[in-house]
Amino acid sequence: MNTPQSGIFALGTFAHIYLEFDRRSRHHARTLVRAVASLREPRTTLGGVNMVCGFRPELWKEVVPHGLPPEVAGFNRDLVGPDGYAMPATQHDAVLWLSGGSYDVVFDTARQVVHSLDSVATLADETSGWPYHHDRDLTGFVDGSENPTLLEAPTVAVIREGAPGAGGSVLLLQKWKHEAARWDALSVHSQEQVIGRTKAESIELDPRPEDSHVARTDQDVFGNIFRRNVPYGNVEDHGTMFVGFSADQRPLVRMLESMVGIPNGVRDALTRYTKPLTGAYYFVPSTEAIRRFVKESDPD
Ligand code: HEM
Repeated sequence: MNTPQSGIFALGTFAHIYLEFDRRSRHHARTLVRAVASLREPRTTLGGVNMVCGFRPELWKEVVPHGLPPEVAGFNRDLVGPDGYAMPATQHDAVLWLSGGSYDVVFDTARQVVHSLDSVATLADETSGWPYHHDRDLTGFVDGSENPTLLEAPTVAVIREGAPGAGGSVLLLQKWKHEAARWDALSVHSQEQVIGRTKAESIELDPRPEDSHVARTDQDVFGNIFRRNVPYGNVEDHGTMFVGFSADQRPLVRMLESMVGIPNGVRDALTRYTKPLTGAYYFVPSTEAIRRFVKESDPD
């Protein structure tokens, strides 16, 4: 039995930090995996931290050759639409997503993690996330309305038993800066046309514009994913950390292609008000797959 990393499903957390790392070149991939596997989070219940780790698919494959679906690949090339709109590829070697009930414990854990990994990996990107008005992103719209429930989410997000990488998941991590002034200048009606849902109640528009965000990412067309997006940033510079999990990489890839307009030339209207700054895919192995790499000398 392979169990997914529990933090993927830990809802209701107020503080988030995403850390992306690059392996120091003198080290083997295995050394990085062992170092990450040997990290420890605080064990208390209320003051605890959820820690989810993932690896560049090609790096995990090097360490565990049949340890993930063979077609899973990193975000290795910019994704460019027919009009030249581009999503940059900023793939790194490993990711850690820390989440908890308050920022202090998440911050302390993040500092320890960066310190512990320092000899094997450099910190390439760090982003802090926080909830905005309960369940809204910084467009002001509810984010996650069409997410599967926690009963359904494991089926959507976790690779089934018996398949390569069982208990694992594919994560797309993409930081999107919002063009807040231009977005705020739109009327609520125009914003609703962009998203494809009403702003107050998050009811899907009928009909919804072809270039609306929910039409470009329609899960009935592309397959289901499990999103754990959070707002990030400060007054001048903020947006959405897109955090999407899937048992199968294809829905994630096809949604991005659809957003840039590859299938039919229709670009997602949301991309006119938001700009992807990063883009990386990570394989998030099962807890059992990670545990095999815990250094034997480490206390449990
Ligand atoms: C700036 C970045 C983004 C923002 C602010 C954003 C926001 C939203 C909002 C407000 C909704 C409607 C409510 C809901 O069902 O959650 C939505 C739906 C959705 N978004 Fe995004 N999103 C962003 C990027 C992405 C990306 C990059 C993907 C895919 C790779 C994606 C996939 C989806 C999916 C699958 C849905 C549900 C579609 C359906 O109705 O089946 N989103 N998003």
